[in-house]
Amino acid sequence: MPAQLIDGKAIAQSVRQSVLEEVQSMAAAGRRAPGLAVVQVGEDPASSVYVGSKRRACKELGIVSASHDLAADTPESTLLALIDSLNADPSVDGILVQLPLPAHIDPEKVIERIDPAKDVDGFHPYNIGRLTVRMPTLRPCTPWGVMRLLESTGQNIKGLDAVIVGASNIVGRPMALELLLAGATVTVTHRFTRDIAAHVGRADIVVAAAGKPGLVKGEWVKPGAIVIDVGINRLADGRLVGDVEFDAAAERAAFITPVPGGVGPMTIAMLMDNTLRARLARGD
Ligand code: GUN
Repeated sequence: MPAQLIDGKAIAQSVRQSVLEEVQSMAAAGRRAPGLAVVQVGEDPASSVYVGSKRRACKELGIVSASHDLAADTPESTLLALIDSLNADPSVDGILVQLPLPAHIDPEKVIERIDPAKDVDGFHPYNIGRLTVRMPTLRPCTPWGVMRLLESTGQNIKGLDAVIVGASNIVGRPMALELLLAGATVTVTHRFTRDIAAHVGRADIVVAAAGKPGLVKGEWVKPGAIVIDVGINRLADGRLVGDVEFDAAAERAAFITPVPGGVGPMTIAMLMDNTLRARLARGD
C-alpha cells in the first residue's frame, strides 16, 4: 500500500486535548463550563451510537451535556418549543438535534429554529451563509474536520482540483464551501452526474460522502491523489466500510483515510471545538 494513512483518531485526539486544556483554564479562572444540549427524537440505532459518543466526549472534556430524549411520535411543535426554551437558557451554549428526524418532522424548520449562535452543527442557513461569503462563524463539523485532515498532509490546497462525491446539506455542500475557501477548484458530483469516474479521475483531492459502500472504485483514483472517505456503512456481515474501495484506492493514492478511524472521530472532536467556541463567544 503506497498511500500514507491519515490518522483521524490521533488528529481528533489532539483537537480534543486543546479543547480540554481550554475548558480547564476556564474552570481555573472560575468561569462556567461550556454546556451542550443533545436532542434525540426516537431511537434510530445508528443515531443512538453517535449521540452516545457525543455525550461521552463532553464528559471527558468537562463540557456539561444535557440529554433530551424524545419519543419517536413527539409532535414537531413540542420539539420546536424545546428548542425555544434551550435558546433562552443561559446555561446552554450549544444545541445539537441529531439527524435524521422522524418523517413527520421537517428538519429545515427545526434547524432554522436554533439560535445561530448556539448552532454547533453549523447547519443553520445563517452559518452556512457566513461560510459562503468567506466569513465563517460556527462551521459544519464533518467538513471542518476534513479540512484538518487535509492540513495534516502538509500539502498546499490552493489551486488543487477537488472533487466531492455527494451533495448533502450535512457534508457535500459545506465541504465544497470549505474547499473553495481554502483555494481549491471544486466540483460537486451527485446522483445526476453523468460520469463520476471521469471527475474523480482528474481529482487531486477526492472527498467521498455519498453513503454508498464502495461507490468510488480504486481504479478511478488519480495516482498521488488525497482520498478522504466520509462514508460509514455497515455491511450485512457487520463490517464497517466507507464509500471508497479502500485497498485498490490505497494502491494509487498518496494519502487516504481509513474507515473507521479517519473522518468519524473528527466530527465529534470538531463538535466539541464548536461548543467551546460558542461558549467563548458569550460575554460571561
Ligand atoms: N446525523 C449524521 N451526522 C450528523 C451530524 O453531524 N449532526 C447531527 N446533528 N446529526 C447528524
